[in-house]
Parts: sequence; C-alpha cells; structure tokens
Amino acid sequence: MAIKTLEWIDNKLRLIDQTMLPEVEGYIECQTKEEVFEAIQQMRVRGAPAIGIAAAFGVVLGLFHSQTTDYRSFRQEAEQVIHYLRLARPTAVNLFNALNRMQQVIEQNKNMEVADIKIALLTEAKMILEDEKRASQQMGDFGAQLLPQECTILTHCNAGALATAEYGTALAVIYRAVEQGKIIKVYADETRPLLQGARLTCWELMRAGIDVTLICDNMAASLMRKKLIDYIFVGADRIARNGDTANKIGTYNLAVLAKYHGIPFYIVAPTSTIDNNIPDGEYIPIEERAPEEITQWGNRRIAPNNVKVYNPAFDVTPAALITGWITEEGLRQPPFT
Ligand code: MRU
Repeated sequence: MAIKTLEWIDNKLRLIDQTMLPEVEGYIECQTKEEVFEAIQQMRVRGAPAIGIAAAFGVVLGLFHSQTTDYRSFRQEAEQVIHYLRLARPTAVNLFNALNRMQQVIEQNKNMEVADIKIALLTEAKMILEDEKRASQQMGDFGAQLLPQECTILTHCNAGALATAEYGTALAVIYRAVEQGKIIKVYADETRPLLQGARLTCWELMRAGIDVTLICDNMAASLMRKKLIDYIFVGADRIARNGDTANKIGTYNLAVLAKYHGIPFYIVAPTSTIDNNIPDGEYIPIEERAPEEITQWGNRRIAPNNVKVYNPAFDVTPAALITGWITEEGLRQPPFT
C-alpha cells in the first residue's frame, strides 16, 4: 500500500508522524498554522518537497478562519501567515518556493472576493502536492534509465515517499528501476544524528520489498573500496545556480569518497529545489539544530554534561563532485537558470 505522507482530508492536513517511525505508523492532523509549523520544525514532516507541501497547506489553515472580507486586510493577514511559516526551517528552498507560489495567488487575484481567494489558495496547495507527485514519477523514470539490469546503490538520509508526496527523489529512481524488473540492491546510510536512513529509508524500502542493507555512515568508504557500490543517489534541499547542492550532513563526505573511488554520484531533485536567486553554495543557509540530537541516544546521555556541540543539519557538495542532476525535466547540468 502506498505511503500517505501528506493528505488533505476534511479541511485538515493529515501527516504520517515521522518521529514515531519505524516503531509506530502514527498520523497527526494539523488544523492550524501553528500545528503545521510545529510539525515541520520537529520533523514530523521532513524532506524538502514534503516541507514545501506542508507549508502551502499551512497557509490555507492559517487563513481559513479569517473574518475579513476586505482584500487589503486579508492580504496583510496572509503576509503574516506566510512570514511565520518561512521561519519553520531555513535550508530546504522548497519551503520558500511553495510559500512564494501561495503569495502569488494572493497578488494575482486582487479582484476576487476574499472567500474565492481562500478557495484559490486551497487549489494552489493541492496543485503543489500534485506537481510534486508528478515530478517524483518523472525523476524516477529519468533516473532508472541510467541504471543497468543489475547494480548496487548507496543512498543517504531519506529521499523517498516520506520526503515527498509519492515515490521520492533518489528512491523514486530505485522504485522505478525495480518496477522495470531491474535487480537493485541498496545500502542505506543510517544518517546520524536523527537516523533518517535507518528509521525511514529502511522502513519504506523494506515495505516495498526492496533489498536494503543498513550501514553506519562511517562504513561507506570501506564498502566503496571493496567495490560494493556502483552508484550513489541522494536528494537535495537546495541547489544553487552553479549546481552546488545542500543535502543532509554527510552527503559531502560521500561525494568526496565517490570521486576518489570513481563512482557516479547523482543528485535527484525536483526543480522546486533549485534556488535561482543564489549563484553558489556559499549562500545556502545551513540549519543548526539542538545539541541534544547528538548528546542523547533516546533518553540516555552519551556525552558529558555541558560538552560543546556543533550540529549542522546539512552540508554543501560542490558541483564539481556531482556527476549529474536528475530533475523532472531530465538529466541536467548547471548553470540552472
Ligand atoms: O532534515 P531532513 O530530514 O528534512 O533532511 C532531508 C534531506 O536532507 C533529504 O535528503 C532531502 O530533503 C531530499 S528529500 C527528497
């Protein structure tokens, strides 16, 4: 059965709570913009495209109960809601691209009744969801064409159905290749510190009956040296115009290792992950998260009290280390305009 990462049901945003996986397949329902904000910030919903979709529905929820019928005051309220949601997480540009699309609906429909603008906003949020679904399928098709009949792929973090609306980005390539009858073996990095690889990628690939083996992040080099990896496919949170790509911390390590071992290293991401406003990776804001993500293992402390901690959630891989970018438009090379 398909994974229902995000759904709009009965005027609520229903999300699979990714903090509970793999032990519990639990769902939450967001009815306010604050609940959507919390879900994004606490990573109940995560992965660049999924964050963007959730934020778009957050705008709908934030304006649903607005009492005003005056366009100017509605627009002011909308700006506040959109500004609020922009602060949920800083790195994945899909959040900002989706919110910009919602903002445009308000700008472009000045002459409509406020009640009709609310309907247009809901339509736009649903369209963002559908656009991401379609992009996932197309990326899967383009990526699968690159693969031979049998190969082994290493992936990092979770770039699957849980990170998008359907299929995923990097994992869409794997799902599609397997559908085509190719024999694909996957190694999944556990992805410290929040273990998206262990908790989420392994869960969703096993659910789909795909051959997946979990490794610790620091084992990747050794596998490459033993020639156990043919390709690396990962997702992205923000791609600069020159192709520098931010993704989950640890991606850059893999890219350097891939170069050394001569392994093709592909980014799979929809065009909603491209940031046309920045020339290179230096401009990508990198989220730093709470020290407890590193100093605690579940409820157990695994580092001394008051130890200094540095916890960037993403790194930037220079374009020169990337073999190609698979988007819904096909295999691309920078510059991205
Ligand atoms: O912190 P997360 O779990 O939101 O980070 C997610 C990633 O880095 C993914 O690889 C990226 O968003 C691409 S997912 C399609």
